[in-house]
Amino acid sequence: MKFTNNLMIIISTMVMMIVYNSVDGASYVSIQEFPDNNCTGEYFAQNYAIVGTCFERSMYTCDGVSSTRNLYKTDDCSGSPWQSQSYNIGQCTGFPELDQVGYTIWECVDNYTIPANSSNSITYLGSCETPWNENPVLWINALKNNHCFPQTGVPPGSGMVRCKNNKGLMDFSYPQRGCKGQASTDYEPNPKYCDGDLGYDFVCSH
Ligand SMILES: *[C@@H]1O[C@H](CO)[C@@H](O)[C@H](O)[C@H]1NC(C)=O
Ligand SMILES: *[C@@H]1O[C@H](CO)[C@@H](O)[C@H](O)[C@H]1NC(C)=O
Ligand SMILES: *[C@@H]1O[C@H](CO)[C@@H](O)[C@H](O)[C@H]1NC(C)=O
Repeated sequence: MKFTNNLMIIISTMVMMIVYNSVDGASYVSIQEFPDNNCTGEYFAQNYAIVGTCFERSMYTCDGVSSTRNLYKTDDCSGSPWQSQSYNIGQCTGFPELDQVGYTIWECVDNYTIPANSSNSITYLGSCETPWNENPVLWINALKNNHCFPQTGVPPGSGMVRCKNNKGLMDFSYPQRGCKGQASTDYEPNPKYCDGDLGYDFVCSH
């Protein structure tokens, strides 16, 4: 019994070390979203996904040639992915799963960087007792403030956000592309919360 307990402690310590080592030397997939199918304009959103760590039933790989997003049916990403989609690094490609319409460029990067002047939704591995940036970051969605982006709909519209006091964002929706016409506005609160091992936070960068 004693031996089994010690063995369990050793094994779980080893598993924790493996998890934390891989998160420590973390690398990320950078996914930038553009309004045009040639990705020539400025990006309006910057996402980062951690490589090789399972979160929210998804796991990303990135090898310099392509990046793959695998989706699983299990919380620990065991078994085979039910969806596996690869993207060529550095090329302008569609990514219809993202919330806005638009085209993306995928890159492998060493670390994330919070872009200036943006509204940032952050998912991290850790509790609500600690600040998000003292924990391994799993996913970031950064929307540039005051930057027009296309939105799906009939007819196709557009939108813009403004960050409010690290607590949420103002959403401006326009009935046509280019953020023209009368906007309808909406406040989206984004309070910090935690669920199991994951923390969710929101910050405004300037
Ligand atoms: C990029 O795409 C936009 C919208 O489709 C188009 O207006 C523009 O001419 C294109 N630019 C180039 C350099 O192809
Ligand atoms: C990644 O960047 C964050 C924020 O700048 C920093 O706190 C962290 O130490 C960096 N991680 C690595 C592995 O360099
Ligand atoms: C942030 O964006 C606003 C609106 O586009 C601009 O007026 C301001 O100068 C920007 N701030 C920084 C630090 O880039």
